[in-house]
Amino acid sequence: MIASSKHGTGSRALLVYFSRPGENYWEGGRRDLDIGNTKRLAQLIAARSGCDVYEIRAADPYPRAYDPTVQRNVREQDQDARPVIAGGLPDLRRYSTVLLGSPVWNVRAPMIMSTFIESADLRGKTVLPFVTYAVSGMSAVDDGYRDALPRSDVRDGLAVRGEDIDGADSDIEAWLRANGLG
Ligand SMILES: Cc1cc2nc3c(=O)[nH]c(=O)nc-3n(C[C@H](O)[C@H](O)[C@H](O)COP(=O)(O)O)c2cc1C
Repeated sequence: MIASSKHGTGSRALLVYFSRPGENYWEGGRRDLDIGNTKRLAQLIAARSGCDVYEIRAADPYPRAYDPTVQRNVREQDQDARPVIAGGLPDLRRYSTVLLGSPVWNVRAPMIMSTFIESADLRGKTVLPFVTYAVSGMSAVDDGYRDALPRSDVRDGLAVRGEDIDGADSDIEAWLRANGLG
């Protein structure tokens, strides 16, 4: 479901994100997150840019436990799987820009992001990738989108370490401004 931004209707940008609450990496240890890191970053970006928001949810939700999630993701990457998205997809026709957010999973985007970009029609649109991560930064995520979306204008992405989201305001602002959304 699409949530309209508090800045009202008429937004030309849609923020699409996937995030998993639960046990995750945190400062070298583990922490149980009620709200996933990428969701928190997505909320900050949406508040600043006034874009609409669509959350990708897995029809078969990922475990809250970290290790089984890692194992499932390795299996899905090995099988080049396309995990099913729960509910309907957004109608992208009124948006010229789509922000695509996810965690980094095993140096790539989660496979459910491939499900999304192959199901949605992103041709001719500007795509702004963003990720949260523990150690490996943007990794192959934005290049992966460039390969998969040759008919979209995939811009340089924003990568924020999960533990640093609260201090990321100026990076978010600069990235949005560089892409005409600030
Ligand atoms: C299955 C899995 C694989 C991960 N792989 C990486 C990785 O390759 N590089 C990295 O820096 N962080 C990795 N992480 C850590 C997450 O990217 C990081 O904690 C992120 O902020 C989680 O976002 P979320 O709470 O929105 O899911 C991984 C986490 C999980 C659960």
